[in-house]
Amino acid sequence: MKLNSSDQVRSDLERLLPLFDAAYLKPFESGEAPGLAEAMCYSLRAGGKRVRPVLCMLAAECVGGSAEDALVCGLALEYIHTYSLVHDDLPAMDDDDLRRGQPTNHKVYGEGQAILAGDGLLTEAFQVLASASSLSADCRVELVSILAEAAGWRGMVGGQSLDLAGEILTRSGESYGLDHLQLIHRLKTGALLRASLEMGAVAAGADPGSRKALRAAGAAMGLAFQIQDDLLDETSTDEQMGKRVNKDQGRGKITYPMLLGMDGARLALTEATEQAITLLKPLPHPEALIAWAHFMAERTS
Ligand code: IPE
Ligand code: IPE
Ligand code: MG
Ligand code: MG
Ligand code: MG
Repeated sequence: MKLNSSDQVRSDLERLLPLFDAAYLKPFESGEAPGLAEAMCYSLRAGGKRVRPVLCMLAAECVGGSAEDALVCGLALEYIHTYSLVHDDLPAMDDDDLRRGQPTNHKVYGEGQAILAGDGLLTEAFQVLASASSLSADCRVELVSILAEAAGWRGMVGGQSLDLAGEILTRSGESYGLDHLQLIHRLKTGALLRASLEMGAVAAGADPGSRKALRAAGAAMGLAFQIQDDLLDETSTDEQMGKRVNKDQGRGKITYPMLLGMDGARLALTEATEQAITLLKPLPHPEALIAWAHFMAERTS
C-alpha cells in the first residue's frame, strides 16, 4: 500500500514519538538545581511538533540505519531548539508571552531563570551527545562538531543576531533585500534543520555522498520551514500556532511575504521544497523524508 503524505507523517509520528517521549526528560531527573530542571522541563514538556528529532531519525532510516541510532541526536537537537525558543521569546528579543500553547518560560520563572534554563538546555545537548555510549568516540566528536556549527554563531545564534540587527535597521527607516533575508532564514532556522538530517546520516554511518545530499536537503527544508513560519504569522491564529501571530510586521521584521507578497512567498516555499525533494530522491529510502518535506510546506501549525 502506498501511503499519502499525511498518512505517512502520521504513521512516522506514531512510531517515532514514543522513542523520543521515553527518553527526553531522563537527563533532568537528578541534579542539585531542581528549580532549574523544572524550568527546562516546562518548555520541553509543553510539546511542539518535534520536527527536528523526527527528521533526524528518518534521515538515519533513509540511509539504512535505525531510528534508535539517531535518537540521542534527536534529543540534543530538541534541547537546542527549545533553548532557542526560550531565548527568542525574552523581552530583549521577540518579547512573547505564549509558546507551545503555554505562557512563555520567562513569564512563569522570570527572565533570569529563563535565560539559565536556555543555557542549561544548550549545554545538556552537548552532554547527551558526548556521553552517548551507543556511538563510537569518533562519531560523537563528529556529531558535536556538526551541532556546534549549526547552533552557534555560524548558524542559529548568528541568524538570530542578524534578525535582531535587521529590526533595528528597519525601525530607523532602512531596509535590506531578499539575499540578506534568505541568509538570515538559512542561519536562524535552516542550520538546525540541516544538522537534523546530517546528524541522522552520521549516526547511521552514511557514505559521504548520502551525507552531503541529506545536509543539502536539510538546508532547503529549513529555508522552506521558515518561509512557512513567515506565512503563518500572516494567516494563522494564536490558537492554531500556540504562539502569538501577526507580530512580525509590527516589530519591523522583514519577512518573505513582506518582500515578495503572499503569492511570491508561497512560490519561494514551493521552490525550496522541490529543491529538497530533488536532493532526496536518489537516496536509498527517501519516501518518508519526501512526505515530510511536503507536510512541512503545507503545515498549518
Ligand atoms: C518555531 O519552530 C521557530 C522556528 C524556527 C520557525 P517550530 O515551529 O518547530 O516550533 P515547535 O517546536 O513546534 O514549538
Ligand atoms: C525564530 O524565528 C527562530 C529561532 C531560532 C528561535 P521566529 O522568531 O520567527 O520564531 P517564532 O515565530 O517566534 O516561533
Ligand atoms: Mg525571533
Ligand atoms: Mg519569535
Ligand atoms: Mg516567526
